[in-house]
Amino acid sequence: MSFGLGRGRELVPGAVGIEMHDLPPLPDAASVEEARRILAFDPRAFFAEPARRFEIEIGSGKGTFLLQQAELEPETNFLGIEWAGEFWAYAADRIRRRGMPNVRLLHGDATEFIRTRVPDGIVSVIHLYFSDPWPKTRHHKRRVVQDHTLREFHRVLAPEGELRIVTDHDELWAWDVEHAERAGDLFVRREFEKPASAGEDEVVGTNFERKFRREGRPFHAMTLVRRV
Ligand SMILES: C[S@@+](CC[C@H](N)C(=O)[O-])C[C@H]1O[C@@H](n2cnc3c(N)ncnc32)[C@H](O)[C@@H]1O
Repeated sequence: MSFGLGRGRELVPGAVGIEMHDLPPLPDAASVEEARRILAFDPRAFFAEPARRFEIEIGSGKGTFLLQQAELEPETNFLGIEWAGEFWAYAADRIRRRGMPNVRLLHGDATEFIRTRVPDGIVSVIHLYFSDPWPKTRHHKRRVVQDHTLREFHRVLAPEGELRIVTDHDELWAWDVEHAERAGDLFVRREFEKPASAGEDEVVGTNFERKFRREGRPFHAMTLVRRV
């Protein structure tokens, strides 16, 4: 239960919201691969129709992309992952009130969740929009894109699966491009194609994009396609 972002209105995640700390604990195992195998956990089971196409958004914020895109694609299951409790509760409450069975919101660290819980080859798209830039050098390790996270994204993506990245931040963009080039054996870089839910002048149409557009900032975007 939370009231902050709701401006006094109670935010109720309901069945849309999933707490990472409520998931079954990881078993003792010699490696994370073995722990995943023993646990046999599959996040597609969060949805009423688990066999459908499955996409993940890392850092969903207020959930605007999910709300807009999942409505246009009712046959795709979308899992948004957000570690800030207020934003998670706000987004889950919005989705719950719309009654969208193809969206779930997980409260936790997306990179940790993907590394420890997501089986190989099940994700069609990973969306990463306006990720936190962490500009100080000592905080760069907190950025979502790292050599090891790209290896994990490659592992969980289906053949031809995509990692879609948009940012306004020049220095984070240079970092993302450098990491993508270093992972050239795992991914091919392609043009970013905007989702159907984006407005005419938008790249994706998230809350941060709309805020940054008002400030006149230019955007960078790319799609990294998993090499088979
Ligand atoms: C700058 S905001 C952008 C939110 C949204 N994508 C948008 O464009 O409006 C970045 C969001 O990512 C979340 N975030 C950053 N790293 C994360 C991680 N490892 N796992 C889950 N959420 C994360 C932050 O809490 C924040 O809400």
